[in-house]
Amino acid sequence: MTGLKRPRVQVIGCGYVGLTTALAFASRGIAVTGIETDLKKRELISSGRLPFHEPGLEELLRKLLGNNFEVRDSQVESDVSFMSVGTPSKNDGGIELAFVESACQTLGELLKNLGGYHTVVVKSTVLPGSTERVVIPTIEARSQKRVGKDFGLCVNPEFLREGSALNDMMDADRIIIGEYDRKSGQVLLDLYGSFYEKSPPILRTNLVNAEFIKYASNAFLATKISFINTIANIAQRLPGGDVNIIAEGMGFDKRIGKSFLSSGLGYGGSCLPKDLRAFLSLARSVGYEAKLLSDIEYVNDSQVGLAIDEARKMIGGFDGKTVTVLGLSFKPDTDDLREAVSRRMIATLLEEGAHVNVYDPVVRSGLQIPSLDQARVVFAKSSIEALSGSDCCFLVTEWTEFKNLEPEDFVKHMRTPVLVDGRRLYDPAKFLGKMKGFSAVGLGSIQ
Ligand code: UDX
Repeated sequence: MTGLKRPRVQVIGCGYVGLTTALAFASRGIAVTGIETDLKKRELISSGRLPFHEPGLEELLRKLLGNNFEVRDSQVESDVSFMSVGTPSKNDGGIELAFVESACQTLGELLKNLGGYHTVVVKSTVLPGSTERVVIPTIEARSQKRVGKDFGLCVNPEFLREGSALNDMMDADRIIIGEYDRKSGQVLLDLYGSFYEKSPPILRTNLVNAEFIKYASNAFLATKISFINTIANIAQRLPGGDVNIIAEGMGFDKRIGKSFLSSGLGYGGSCLPKDLRAFLSLARSVGYEAKLLSDIEYVNDSQVGLAIDEARKMIGGFDGKTVTVLGLSFKPDTDDLREAVSRRMIATLLEEGAHVNVYDPVVRSGLQIPSLDQARVVFAKSSIEALSGSDCCFLVTEWTEFKNLEPEDFVKHMRTPVLVDGRRLYDPAKFLGKMKGFSAVGLGSIQ
């Protein structure tokens, strides 16, 4: 972008996607304003703290605050607006567009009085067709301006993983630009051009394909996970079968690849479960029953129950027993509990009469399980404290600090040292035979 005037950017919504995007551009000398309507979050951000756990981002925030980056409560005069507000699930599996609509209304009001050409970029995950059906008409109605003429519009989906959002932004696999008009696509291209020394592959397409690519990608990742969990469930039943070895062997094939073949308790988080449900509901709404997608969900939803069955075989029932759950967040390096498998697991254990000791290096409260009997859930201050006096332990989230636990830690502190390794964190050779019961999800010929 050398020689060109740098655009002023606003990023609407300062969740992990919005804030990562905002700070990444600000780190390249672009003036960025983050728009956050939630007072508590805004106060935290403007004091240099993150409202969530995301490695590396807080340091960057502190560096850039007041220096290319600021946070405001309402939208500001700018050249480019990234929209990265949430699109939560509705009861029917579809997505709630209320935050998107509200951001578009405010943006429309802003554009009404703004001269020059403005580029609107939809980063929020919206179902194919939503930008055309909701975003464009809402902005046009409020601004009294025409898309493609007075303002430009792109769909630019994000593929950032929680816990490695900054790395994923800096080292992106691809940039997808769905453009209503060529000019806005070029604005985005220039913006990314200023960002990457060596550009990742860029695909320019229409709005609906860009929206689709996001859902198809997440559905494919979920497919890989449920596929390997299916293999794990079969391998578990065959003496000598070991899903990790099977996945390693499969991964050498370039057509398959090594990633997203870790078996275990299944996927959770703010994206994969929600996006899969929404994709299914979209397919239904256009008259196609996407059985493959519902089976992926079915496999995922079954994994917790299978792990609990595994433990039941080793300790009998859970009634009156003390059970340890190590790890609460849906994956390591985040404090996000949205659709975390730990919550389903704890709910089931409570239903079966267990007392549950939980420990997570970052999550210290806020399980919010419906009908949670608070008195039967104890937040421990360390993994050892959580293991003390316990009859069974589930390793739920593969935080690095849990890797350091040795068989002796379980044997010494638990009443009955029984461990179900829900993420294949431990080396079976080290654990088998050392404890009363050891099982790794997907490991054949256990105990
Ligand atoms: C995902 C997508 O990866 C990202 O591109 C998109 O923008 C948002 O959704 P995220 O939800 O942050 O990112 O985490 P991800 O690393 O994809 O993991 C999702 C879930 O799948 C986690 O619960 C994780 O534990 C699980 N998982 C992942 C597996 O069970 N096995 C694997 O091999 C990989």
